[in-house]
Amino acid sequence: MTQVRVAFVGCGGAQREHYRHLSERDDVELVGHCDVDGDRAAAAADRYGGEAFTDHETMYEQTRPSAVYVCVPPFAHSGPEEGAAMRGIHLFVEKPIALDRRTAKRISATIRKAKIITSVGYCWRYFDTVEHARKLIKTKAVCLVRGYWDGPMSDVWWWRRQDKSGGQLMEQTTHIVDLVRHLCGEVAEVHAIGSTGCMSQVPDFDIHDSSVATLQLKNGAAGVVTSVCVANNAGVKAGVEVVTPEAVFTLEHGKLTVREDGKTTEYEPRADVYAEQTDAFIESVKTGRKKRIRSTYADALKTFLVTCAANESMASGLPVKP
Ligand SMILES: NC(=O)c1ccc[n+]([C@@H]2O[C@H](COP(=O)([O-])OP(=O)(O)OC[C@H]3O[C@@H](n4cnc5c(N)ncnc54)[C@H](O)[C@@H]3O)[C@@H](O)[C@H]2O)c1
Repeated sequence: MTQVRVAFVGCGGAQREHYRHLSERDDVELVGHCDVDGDRAAAAADRYGGEAFTDHETMYEQTRPSAVYVCVPPFAHSGPEEGAAMRGIHLFVEKPIALDRRTAKRISATIRKAKIITSVGYCWRYFDTVEHARKLIKTKAVCLVRGYWDGPMSDVWWWRRQDKSGGQLMEQTTHIVDLVRHLCGEVAEVHAIGSTGCMSQVPDFDIHDSSVATLQLKNGAAGVVTSVCVANNAGVKAGVEVVTPEAVFTLEHGKLTVREDGKTTEYEPRADVYAEQTDAFIESVKTGRKKRIRSTYADALKTFLVTCAANESMASGLPVKP
């Protein structure tokens, strides 16, 4: 059995979830853990085996991984991806892939030249219910798509800073923007507004409390994606609703509800999306066949550019093309 040598850049919350599934596979060897916080890298190495580093270049040279998981906050992308791509190391990258258009496009060009396998953490795509909804929607004319992410503020320090996270829409509701594209097609134009003022008691908080992004889809459908991060005691409610003349499809946390012909049908998700995502990436690295990967870097770039357009529109007040 071919062993896949895996390294990590960024040893925080996201990494723990990926480790859970990688460590269940006996064809994966965890060889390196890199974090600018040396204690975090050392703790990961203690727990999962492999060596600890504070610099990804040194880790790539010393451990020679065949695949790397880049799980850094939005502001820290580019060096880890470009260093890996230039060495032919396959890449799993957490969303969002960057903070600005130029960086994301440059990384994408480097990856394209390197011809490596890529996967981006748009894990919702791995719900079997999303796949089922996609097949049903494909044959219908979409009239309206409505996406939402209502939740509390994340407690990681960088999340509440616009220059570090890009704000809730770019950092978190990007999952929903990605689902809109995956289910309904590409976005032609975005017009967005944001609100502030409800979280002024929180130190270092300068992202929008809420935002509304209206989307014109290329197929003519209208869309809207709303985000709110002041719902501190209400849990998370996130999903997408797609309205067609024949049926209305609602996907919320993986559960699909279809309303048509006077009846309602509910489908509970059977897939563990993180496990599916892990298996798809590792199998692709082993076989060179990318078919199971549902979000490549090139595709994730399109989602990212929609969120860039939304942020630019919030700043200028004008509609922006992705
Ligand atoms: N797809 C998902 O479901 C999912 C879930 C959780 C997090 N994420 C994404 O993963 C990313 C990380 O989130 P998190 O919750 O793990 O954050 P975190 O703050 O818990 O961890 C990030 C780690 O990266 C380290 N880091 C920062 N800059 C670095 C650099 N240049 N080199 C090496 N390490 C560096 C930090 O020290 C920190 O330990 C975010 O973009 C987040 O959106 C995705």
